[in-house]
Amino acid sequence: MFPYLFLAPLAGYTTSSVRLFFRLHGADMVFSEMVSAKAILLGSKKTLSLVAFKEKERPIGVQIFGGDPIVLSEAAQAIEENLKPDMIDINMGCPVRKVIKQGYGAALLENRDMALRIAHDVSRAVKTPVSVKTRTGFDRPIGLSFFLELASTGISLLTIHGRTAISFFSGEVDWDFIHRLAERSPIPVIGNGGLKTPEDVREKLMIGNISGVMIGMGAVSDPFIFMKVRGKPIPDNPEVYFLKFIMEKGEGVNVVKRFALNMLKNRFNVRRYRRMIAHSRDGEEILKVVEECVNV
Ligand SMILES: Cc1cc2nc3c(=O)[nH]c(=O)nc-3n(C[C@H](O)[C@H](O)[C@H](O)COP(=O)(O)O)c2cc1C
Repeated sequence: MFPYLFLAPLAGYTTSSVRLFFRLHGADMVFSEMVSAKAILLGSKKTLSLVAFKEKERPIGVQIFGGDPIVLSEAAQAIEENLKPDMIDINMGCPVRKVIKQGYGAALLENRDMALRIAHDVSRAVKTPVSVKTRTGFDRPIGLSFFLELASTGISLLTIHGRTAISFFSGEVDWDFIHRLAERSPIPVIGNGGLKTPEDVREKLMIGNISGVMIGMGAVSDPFIFMKVRGKPIPDNPEVYFLKFIMEKGEGVNVVKRFALNMLKNRFNVRRYRRMIAHSRDGEEILKVVEECVNV
Protein backbone atom coordinates (compact mmCIF):
# COMPACT_ATOMS: atom_id res chain seq x y z
CA MET A 1 0.00 0.00 0.00
CA PHE A 2 1.21 3.50 -0.79
CA PRO A 3 1.97 5.47 2.41
CA TYR A 4 -0.57 8.07 3.46
CA LEU A 5 -0.27 11.62 2.22
CA PHE A 6 -2.15 13.99 4.54
CA LEU A 7 -2.81 17.72 4.33
CA ALA A 8 -1.77 19.37 7.62
CA PRO A 9 -4.14 21.53 9.64
CA LEU A 10 -3.19 25.17 8.99
CA ALA A 11 -5.06 27.97 10.72
CA GLY A 12 -6.08 30.58 8.17
CA TYR A 13 -5.46 28.26 5.21
CA THR A 14 -7.26 24.92 5.44
CA THR A 15 -10.81 26.14 4.91
CA SER A 16 -13.55 23.96 3.44
CA SER A 17 -12.86 24.88 -0.22
CA VAL A 18 -9.12 24.37 0.24
CA ARG A 19 -9.62 20.99 1.91
CA LEU A 20 -11.91 19.94 -0.92
CA PHE A 21 -9.30 20.94 -3.49
CA PHE A 22 -6.66 18.83 -1.77
CA ARG A 23 -8.93 15.82 -1.39
CA LEU A 24 -9.59 15.95 -5.13
CA HIS A 25 -5.91 16.51 -5.90
CA GLY A 26 -3.98 13.79 -4.16
CA ALA A 27 -4.38 14.12 -0.39
CA ASP A 28 -5.65 10.94 1.31
CA MET A 29 -7.05 12.91 4.24
CA VAL A 30 -7.41 16.53 5.31
CA PHE A 31 -7.76 18.23 8.70
CA SER A 32 -9.64 21.27 9.92
CA GLU A 33 -7.61 23.94 11.65
CA MET A 34 -7.52 23.64 15.42
CA VAL A 35 -10.55 24.85 17.34
CA SER A 36 -10.98 25.37 21.06
CA ALA A 37 -12.79 22.53 22.82
CA LYS A 38 -14.29 25.07 25.19
CA ALA A 39 -15.63 27.16 22.31
CA ILE A 40 -17.21 24.03 20.80
CA LEU A 41 -19.05 23.35 24.05
CA LEU A 42 -20.18 26.98 24.21
CA GLY A 43 -21.62 26.58 20.71
CA SER A 44 -19.58 29.45 19.25
CA LYS A 45 -20.88 30.04 15.71
CA LYS A 46 -17.46 31.13 14.41
CA THR A 47 -15.83 27.99 15.81
CA LEU A 48 -18.50 25.74 14.35
CA SER A 49 -18.04 27.35 10.93
CA LEU A 50 -14.31 26.51 11.05
CA VAL A 51 -15.00 22.80 11.49
CA ALA A 52 -18.09 22.38 9.33
CA PHE A 53 -17.26 20.35 6.24
CA LYS A 54 -18.80 18.95 3.06
CA GLU A 55 -19.22 15.21 2.48
CA LYS A 56 -16.77 15.35 -0.44
CA GLU A 57 -13.97 16.41 1.91
CA ARG A 58 -14.01 13.01 3.61
CA PRO A 59 -11.99 11.45 5.04
CA ILE A 60 -11.52 14.46 7.30
CA GLY A 61 -10.14 14.96 10.78
CA VAL A 62 -11.42 17.72 13.05
CA GLN A 63 -8.74 19.08 15.35
CA ILE A 64 -9.44 20.35 18.86
CA PHE A 65 -7.23 21.91 21.50
CA GLY A 66 -7.63 22.28 25.24
CA GLY A 67 -6.11 21.19 28.52
CA ASP A 68 -8.87 19.47 30.45
CA PRO A 69 -9.72 15.81 29.76
CA ILE A 70 -13.40 16.35 30.57
CA VAL A 71 -13.80 19.42 28.35
CA LEU A 72 -11.90 17.72 25.51
CA SER A 73 -13.92 14.51 25.86
CA GLU A 74 -17.23 16.38 25.84
CA ALA A 75 -16.16 18.50 22.86
CA ALA A 76 -15.15 15.31 21.03
CA GLN A 77 -18.57 13.81 21.79
CA ALA A 78 -20.35 16.94 20.53
CA ILE A 79 -18.29 16.88 17.33
CA GLU A 80 -18.94 13.18 16.84
CA GLU A 81 -22.66 13.62 17.32
CA ASN A 82 -23.07 16.70 15.13
CA LEU A 83 -20.45 16.36 12.41
CA LYS A 84 -19.42 12.70 12.36
CA PRO A 85 -15.87 13.32 11.11
CA ASP A 86 -13.63 10.39 10.24
CA MET A 87 -11.12 11.31 12.93
CA ILE A 88 -10.84 13.61 15.92
CA ASP A 89 -7.34 15.00 16.36
CA ILE A 90 -6.00 16.48 19.59
CA ASN A 91 -3.49 19.29 19.22
CA MET A 92 -0.46 18.83 21.47
CA GLY A 93 1.97 20.83 19.37
CA CYS A 94 0.82 24.42 18.97
CA PRO A 95 3.63 26.71 20.22
CA VAL A 96 1.70 30.01 20.11
CA ARG A 97 1.96 31.93 23.40
CA LYS A 98 -1.76 32.56 23.78
CA VAL A 99 -2.35 28.80 23.57
CA ILE A 100 0.50 27.44 25.72
CA LYS A 101 -0.02 29.96 28.47
CA GLN A 102 -3.37 28.30 29.17
CA GLY A 103 -1.77 24.86 29.33
CA TYR A 104 -3.02 23.89 25.84
CA GLY A 105 -1.22 22.75 22.66
CA ALA A 106 2.52 22.16 23.13
CA ALA A 107 2.26 23.01 26.86
CA LEU A 108 0.99 19.45 27.28
CA LEU A 109 4.54 18.28 26.48
CA GLU A 110 5.52 19.88 29.80
CA ASN A 111 2.59 18.24 31.58
CA ARG A 112 2.94 14.75 30.23
CA ASP A 113 0.75 12.89 32.72
CA MET A 114 -2.08 15.19 31.66
CA ALA A 115 -1.28 14.61 27.98
CA LEU A 116 -1.54 10.84 28.52
CA ARG A 117 -4.78 11.20 30.46
CA ILE A 118 -6.30 13.36 27.75
CA ALA A 119 -5.36 10.87 25.02
CA HIS A 120 -6.69 7.99 27.13
CA ASP A 121 -9.97 9.68 28.11
CA VAL A 122 -10.85 11.21 24.74
CA SER A 123 -10.23 7.97 22.87
CA ARG A 124 -12.70 6.24 25.22
CA ALA A 125 -15.29 9.02 25.08
CA VAL A 126 -16.00 8.56 21.37
CA LYS A 127 -16.29 5.78 18.80
CA THR A 128 -14.55 7.91 16.19
CA PRO A 129 -10.81 7.16 15.91
CA VAL A 130 -8.77 9.71 17.87
CA SER A 131 -5.33 10.92 16.83
CA VAL A 132 -2.75 13.22 18.41
CA LYS A 133 -0.54 15.73 16.60
CA THR A 134 2.50 16.76 18.54
CA ARG A 135 6.20 17.68 18.45
CA THR A 136 9.47 16.13 19.64
CA GLY A 137 9.39 18.11 22.88
CA PHE A 138 8.78 21.53 24.36
CA ASP A 139 12.21 23.13 24.75
CA ARG A 140 14.26 19.98 24.03
CA PRO A 141 13.54 16.51 22.61
CA ILE A 142 11.97 14.36 25.32
CA GLY A 143 12.90 10.92 24.06
CA LEU A 144 10.97 7.97 22.73
CA SER A 145 9.39 6.54 25.88
CA PHE A 146 6.76 9.26 26.36
CA PHE A 147 5.63 8.92 22.74
CA LEU A 148 5.45 5.14 23.02
CA GLU A 149 3.24 5.58 26.10
CA LEU A 150 1.12 8.11 24.21
CA ALA A 151 0.78 5.61 21.36
CA SER A 152 -0.52 3.02 23.84
CA THR A 153 -3.30 5.13 25.37
CA GLY A 154 -5.96 4.01 22.91
CA ILE A 155 -5.41 6.57 20.18
CA SER A 156 -5.32 5.32 16.58
CA LEU A 157 -2.67 7.49 14.96
CA LEU A 158 0.18 9.75 16.00
CA THR A 159 1.54 12.63 13.94
CA ILE A 160 4.93 14.06 14.89
CA HIS A 161 6.19 17.41 13.71
CA GLY A 162 9.92 16.75 14.11
CA ARG A 163 10.79 19.97 15.92
CA THR A 164 10.49 21.18 19.50
CA ALA A 165 7.84 23.78 20.31
CA ILE A 166 10.35 26.55 20.95
CA SER A 167 11.82 26.14 17.47
CA PHE A 168 8.38 27.01 16.07
CA PHE A 169 8.59 26.43 12.31
CA SER A 170 12.29 26.82 11.60
CA GLY A 171 15.42 24.74 11.98
CA GLU A 172 16.17 21.08 11.41
CA VAL A 173 13.36 18.55 11.42
CA ASP A 174 14.39 15.42 13.30
CA TRP A 175 13.31 12.76 10.82
CA ASP A 176 15.62 10.27 12.47
CA PHE A 177 13.54 10.55 15.66
CA ILE A 178 10.29 10.16 13.71
CA HIS A 179 11.60 7.05 11.99
CA ARG A 180 12.89 5.53 15.24
CA LEU A 181 9.51 6.11 16.85
CA ALA A 182 7.71 4.58 13.87
CA GLU A 183 9.87 1.45 14.16
CA ARG A 184 8.60 0.80 17.67
CA SER A 185 5.13 2.35 17.75
CA PRO A 186 2.11 0.05 18.05
CA ILE A 187 0.05 2.50 15.95
CA PRO A 188 0.72 4.29 12.63
CA VAL A 189 3.11 7.25 12.85
CA ILE A 190 2.86 10.14 10.40
CA GLY A 191 5.89 12.38 9.92
CA ASN A 192 5.61 16.11 9.46
CA GLY A 193 7.79 19.16 9.00
CA GLY A 194 9.60 21.05 6.28
CA LEU A 195 8.56 18.96 3.26
CA LYS A 196 8.66 21.43 0.38
CA THR A 197 9.12 19.38 -2.78
CA PRO A 198 7.92 16.00 -4.14
CA GLU A 199 11.55 14.84 -3.84
CA ASP A 200 11.59 15.71 -0.11
CA VAL A 201 8.44 13.65 0.37
CA ARG A 202 9.70 10.64 -1.59
CA GLU A 203 13.00 10.66 0.28
CA LYS A 204 11.29 10.58 3.70
CA LEU A 205 8.90 7.85 2.63
CA MET A 206 11.65 5.65 1.29
CA ILE A 207 13.45 5.18 4.60
CA GLY A 208 12.05 3.47 7.69
CA ASN A 209 8.64 2.55 8.82
CA ILE A 210 6.50 5.68 8.83
CA SER A 211 2.93 5.20 7.67
CA GLY A 212 2.86 8.48 5.82
CA VAL A 213 3.59 12.17 5.85
CA MET A 214 1.61 15.30 6.53
CA ILE A 215 2.34 18.34 4.37
CA GLY A 216 1.53 21.91 5.42
CA MET A 217 3.20 24.98 3.99
CA GLY A 218 4.74 22.92 1.16
CA ALA A 219 1.19 22.41 -0.10
CA VAL A 220 0.39 26.12 0.28
CA SER A 221 3.28 27.13 -1.96
CA ASP A 222 2.64 24.19 -4.32
CA PRO A 223 -0.98 22.98 -4.25
CA PHE A 224 -0.11 20.20 -6.71
CA ILE A 225 2.60 18.66 -4.53
CA PHE A 226 0.44 15.60 -3.73
CA MET A 227 -0.24 14.96 -7.43
CA LYS A 228 3.47 15.34 -8.19
CA VAL A 229 4.41 12.82 -5.47
CA ARG A 230 1.97 10.39 -7.08
CA GLY A 231 3.42 11.03 -10.52
CA LYS A 232 0.07 12.36 -11.78
CA PRO A 233 -0.18 15.06 -14.48
CA ILE A 234 -0.92 18.63 -13.42
CA PRO A 235 -2.66 21.40 -15.38
CA ASP A 236 -0.95 24.32 -17.11
CA ASN A 237 -0.85 27.43 -14.92
CA PRO A 238 -1.40 25.45 -11.72
CA GLU A 239 -1.52 28.57 -9.51
CA VAL A 240 -4.37 30.03 -11.56
CA TYR A 241 -6.17 26.67 -11.66
CA PHE A 242 -6.00 26.37 -7.88
CA LEU A 243 -7.21 29.93 -7.19
CA LYS A 244 -10.09 29.57 -9.67
CA PHE A 245 -11.13 26.34 -7.97
CA ILE A 246 -11.33 27.77 -4.45
CA MET A 247 -12.95 31.01 -5.66
CA GLU A 248 -15.64 29.03 -7.48
CA LYS A 249 -16.33 27.30 -4.18
CA GLY A 250 -16.87 30.70 -2.58
CA GLU A 251 -13.52 31.24 -0.85
CA GLY A 252 -13.02 34.70 0.67
CA VAL A 253 -10.40 37.22 -0.37
CA ASN A 254 -8.12 36.75 2.67
CA VAL A 255 -7.47 33.08 2.00
CA VAL A 256 -7.12 33.73 -1.76
CA LYS A 257 -4.54 36.40 -0.98
CA ARG A 258 -2.56 34.23 1.45
CA PHE A 259 -2.27 31.43 -1.10
CA ALA A 260 -1.44 33.81 -3.98
CA LEU A 261 1.40 35.39 -1.99
CA ASN A 262 2.81 32.01 -0.97
CA MET A 263 2.55 30.43 -4.40
CA LEU A 264 4.54 33.26 -6.00
CA LYS A 265 7.10 33.49 -3.20
CA ASN A 266 9.82 31.43 -4.84
CA ARG A 267 9.60 33.00 -8.28
CA PHE A 268 12.20 35.41 -9.57
CA ASN A 269 11.41 39.09 -9.96
CA VAL A 270 7.88 39.07 -8.58
CA ARG A 271 8.11 41.78 -5.95
CA ARG A 272 5.89 44.16 -7.92
CA TYR A 273 3.17 41.50 -8.34
CA ARG A 274 3.29 40.45 -4.71
CA ARG A 275 2.92 44.06 -3.64
CA MET A 276 -0.16 44.47 -5.84
CA ILE A 277 -1.67 41.31 -4.37
CA ALA A 278 -0.91 42.38 -0.82
CA HIS A 279 -2.76 45.66 -1.38
CA SER A 280 -5.77 44.19 -3.18
CA ARG A 281 -9.11 43.58 -1.52
CA ASP A 282 -10.66 41.72 -4.39
CA GLY A 283 -10.28 38.03 -5.30
CA GLU A 284 -10.83 38.56 -9.06
CA GLU A 285 -8.20 41.28 -9.11
CA ILE A 286 -5.73 39.02 -7.29
CA LEU A 287 -6.43 36.26 -9.81
CA LYS A 288 -5.66 38.67 -12.70
CA VAL A 289 -2.34 39.70 -11.13
CA VAL A 290 -1.36 36.05 -10.60
CA GLU A 291 -2.32 35.26 -14.23
CA GLU A 292 -0.18 38.12 -15.49
CA CYS A 293 2.72 37.18 -13.21
CA VAL A 294 2.87 33.50 -14.21
CA ASN A 295 2.55 34.29 -17.92
CA VAL A 296 5.38 36.84 -18.26
C1 LIG B 1 0.09 29.39 9.44
C2 LIG B 1 0.14 28.07 10.16
C3 LIG B 1 -0.99 27.59 10.82
C4 LIG B 1 -0.96 26.38 11.50
N1 LIG B 1 -2.09 25.91 12.14
C5 LIG B 1 -2.05 24.70 12.75
C6 LIG B 1 -3.22 24.17 13.38
O1 LIG B 1 -4.30 24.77 13.41
N2 LIG B 1 -3.11 22.94 13.97
C7 LIG B 1 -1.92 22.22 13.97
O2 LIG B 1 -1.87 21.12 14.51
N3 LIG B 1 -0.83 22.71 13.38
C8 LIG B 1 -0.87 23.90 12.77
N4 LIG B 1 0.25 24.37 12.14
C9 LIG B 1 1.44 23.48 12.05
C10 LIG B 1 1.39 22.64 10.76
O3 LIG B 1 0.28 21.77 10.76
C11 LIG B 1 2.67 21.82 10.59
O4 LIG B 1 2.82 20.95 11.69
C12 LIG B 1 3.91 22.70 10.48
O5 LIG B 1 3.67 23.82 9.66
C13 LIG B 1 5.10 21.91 9.93
O6 LIG B 1 4.78 21.29 8.70
P1 LIG B 1 5.07 21.95 7.25
O7 LIG B 1 6.54 22.33 7.25
O8 LIG B 1 4.73 20.89 6.27
O9 LIG B 1 4.21 23.17 7.15
C14 LIG B 1 0.24 25.61 11.51
C15 LIG B 1 1.38 26.09 10.84
C16 LIG B 1 1.34 27.30 10.18
C17 LIG B 1 2.58 27.78 9.48
